[in-house]
Amino acid sequence: MKSLLRLLSILFLATGSISCRRELQQPQEPSYTIGFSQCTNDLWRQIMMIQMEAEATKYPNMNLIILDALNDNEKQISQIEELVKSQVDLLIISPNESSPITPAAVQAYRSGIPTIIWDRKIDSDEFTTFISADNYAIGRDVGRYVLSKLPEGSSILEITGLRGSSPAKERHDGFMDTINGHYRVKSIAGDWQGAVAGARVEDIPSYSDIDLMFGHNDDMAIAAYEAVATRSSEDADRIKFIGIDAIVGVDAVIDGRLDASFLYPPGGEFVIETAMRILNGESVEKNHTLKSAIVDSTNAATLKQQSEQILNYQNHINAQRKSLDEISESYKLLRSSSIALICGAFVLICIAVAAFHVTSKTRKQYKELQKKNAEIEKNTEDLLVKNAQIENLSNQKLQFFTNLSHEIRTPLTLILNPLDKMAKNEKDPAIKDDIWTLQHNARHLLKIVNQILDFRKIENNKTILSVQEVDIVPFVNEVLKYFEAYSQNEKIIYKFHSSVDSAKLFLDRDKIEQVLINLISNAFKNSKRYGIITVSITDDADRVTLEVHDTGKGIDINTQRHIFDRFYTLGEGQSHGIGLHLSREYVEMHKGRIHVESEPGKFTSFYVEIPKGRDHLPKETVFVTEDPAATDIFPVGTRSIDSMLEKKIECTVLIAEDDEDIRAYLERELSENFNVIATSNGYEAMQRILGEEVDVVLSDVLMPHINGFQLCREIKTNLATSHIPVILLTALTDDSQRIYGIAEGADEYIRKPFNIDYLKVKIMKIHEDRLQMKETFFKEFNAQKLFKSGIRDIPCADDLFKDRLTDYLENHFDNAEIGINDIGLAVNLSRAQLYRKTIALFGVSPTVLLRRFRLSKSADYLSSGKYTISEVAYMTGFSAPSYFTRCFKEQFGISPTEYKNTKDDEIQP
Ligand code: FRU
Repeated sequence: MKSLLRLLSILFLATGSISCRRELQQPQEPSYTIGFSQCTNDLWRQIMMIQMEAEATKYPNMNLIILDALNDNEKQISQIEELVKSQVDLLIISPNESSPITPAAVQAYRSGIPTIIWDRKIDSDEFTTFISADNYAIGRDVGRYVLSKLPEGSSILEITGLRGSSPAKERHDGFMDTINGHYRVKSIAGDWQGAVAGARVEDIPSYSDIDLMFGHNDDMAIAAYEAVATRSSEDADRIKFIGIDAIVGVDAVIDGRLDASFLYPPGGEFVIETAMRILNGESVEKNHTLKSAIVDSTNAATLKQQSEQILNYQNHINAQRKSLDEISESYKLLRSSSIALICGAFVLICIAVAAFHVTSKTRKQYKELQKKNAEIEKNTEDLLVKNAQIENLSNQKLQFFTNLSHEIRTPLTLILNPLDKMAKNEKDPAIKDDIWTLQHNARHLLKIVNQILDFRKIENNKTILSVQEVDIVPFVNEVLKYFEAYSQNEKIIYKFHSSVDSAKLFLDRDKIEQVLINLISNAFKNSKRYGIITVSITDDADRVTLEVHDTGKGIDINTQRHIFDRFYTLGEGQSHGIGLHLSREYVEMHKGRIHVESEPGKFTSFYVEIPKGRDHLPKETVFVTEDPAATDIFPVGTRSIDSMLEKKIECTVLIAEDDEDIRAYLERELSENFNVIATSNGYEAMQRILGEEVDVVLSDVLMPHINGFQLCREIKTNLATSHIPVILLTALTDDSQRIYGIAEGADEYIRKPFNIDYLKVKIMKIHEDRLQMKETFFKEFNAQKLFKSGIRDIPCADDLFKDRLTDYLENHFDNAEIGINDIGLAVNLSRAQLYRKTIALFGVSPTVLLRRFRLSKSADYLSSGKYTISEVAYMTGFSAPSYFTRCFKEQFGISPTEYKNTKDDEIQP
């Protein structure tokens, strides 16, 4: 930017210097101020001024200041001083009188101002130059003229100029010296003024003895003539009148009022020219004498003509000068406008350059910003990637612990189930006690593992409340019973108090139970022998508050602040783990509040406030109407579990489980009630299902190669197997996993650790349902409701099978040639698969199914009354009417003829 401005400045200066150079190429004169102190402004001097101004037009840079003293010495002195003060470059003085003006003129000259003394002299040589005609010579010429015109002894009246002025003195001397005694001369003062001279002449009583009147200038001579003529024209005609100046009195000479005048040139042009020469540093003469001449009747007209011509020229020149001036003014205006335009353009260029600079700078900054933004974005991306990596790593870690927890749950299943069985069968109280201890601790371990898994679910926001209306008073009482034995052992006093007998709340039983167990466990842990633990319920208008109070060691204030934070430890190896954190999460899921009050060494109270009603609960909350645990345990109505579990039923259960122990355990347990096929992976399972008759599949989800979901999909999308119920067995607890399993067509989804009896009952229930379904189908089939009207509870893939089968039967039932192989081909199943399928779905073989279909159609035909028995038999694909009749009777209990007759009767009106 700076360099650019520098360049522009150079350009601008160059432009300036070019214009300056152009001006220098034209003669450019410096500007001068010339001061002119004029003594008066009579006609002669007006002509003088015209001459000066005409000459001055040659010098446009010359400024002329003219001050008129009006015949007043004092005034002229002050005006000279004024001009000196204003520092004129040159001073022209035409003094009124010599002596009075001399000091001022000398002082001006001494101050360094070049001084031109003009027309009338001063009494000093201290001036630059003196310009005037020779007044003594003019006086002498007048004398000579008079001598030539006037006889000796004649009388002359001389009217002099101002006596203190040099021309008056010198004209008189020149005249007197020339006429030297030849005439009688009387002098009066006219002071250069016509009026003064006229008045003085008027004062003369008689002009009779005057032969000639000589005025030192034309004004005074003419005034004398007028005075004489006014009194006596004869005298005026007789007396000769002579003047000086000529340019003033030329008309008077022409018309005869004056006999002659002598040219006294003002020399205005010359004075200006001389002034410029002085100002330009040229040397000038000290005295310059202007030329004079006589003007009388012989040359006056010529002089006037010439003067007028000169005047015309002058006017013309003045006009040209004026137009030149105007052009010059226009030029100046144009020039200044151009300069203004150039300046404006320069400013505009500067602005444009600045704008360009700012724009390019902004663009540069913008680009830099973009670059920085890109960097920031990249950094953010990197951070996000790293964050994702960390999150991933952290998730992997958590997943690892979750998987571990799942892994723990499986062996726990294997521990708890045999323990339950042993506890049931064991009679020896001592061993029973040990078993109880084992059960208690295994369940405790299970609880911890479940907490870890619940914690994960909460972290993943996947926990949904499963809420039912619970009376909190008996519920709390029940939980308290878990600790009764413990309190007795530990000698801790254990109290329960409730302000009401009953208080209904909408709760997720499991979760609030965990909260209570957690709080009471902590109270026991923190209490010493003979400490008191009080659990109380307070019913307020809008909420119920549970308080677990102990008189144990208490919690300091700092710990109280963080006690509900996850992973917060109490130090000294003590840890609340995730128990209190989970408790708070569970309470807050119920839109409740949990808080602690404590005084170290004295007491600790945990308060759980739960709002009444259900409107505050999250919208995804599941409301259940009965105890799911009870339903799970007693799924088969009123029959007792024990009697059920004693039965061995005709049902083949295929187990797909990669864990050897679990597989062996399941095989052993399930063999008590079912036929069992055990496989160790999904692939093997699928092979066995396709090849053998399987009634129920029990599969683990997490298996190598083909997992449980995939196996389920395979089974449910294959027409040959889609009818087989699938129970998925997994340690995964996420609801999403369960939903996924169901989406794949799983009929049941059972969580590990499972209760083996529950599992058995579940399998039995499913098998029973299938039998029920077959029955229903068969009834419907018999009632001819099979075709394409949905059969309840048949899985989706089976709809396809049913549609295909129905289509085929509809189109081919009349064909006696078709057999099971043809049907198998039509529905894309092998003969064995078709057999298993129809047996599983409908409880009958394909042959029976085809025969029943034909019979149902034959019943329709017979009902119409249009056909004979034989016709109907052939129309429905029976090869012989006798066989048709037998089958019909078997199916419907009456012969086709009887059936036809009955229907005919119904048809006839
Ligand atoms: C004008 C004038 C002229 C005369 C000159 C002498 O003021 O009177 O008529 O010639 O002055 O200074």
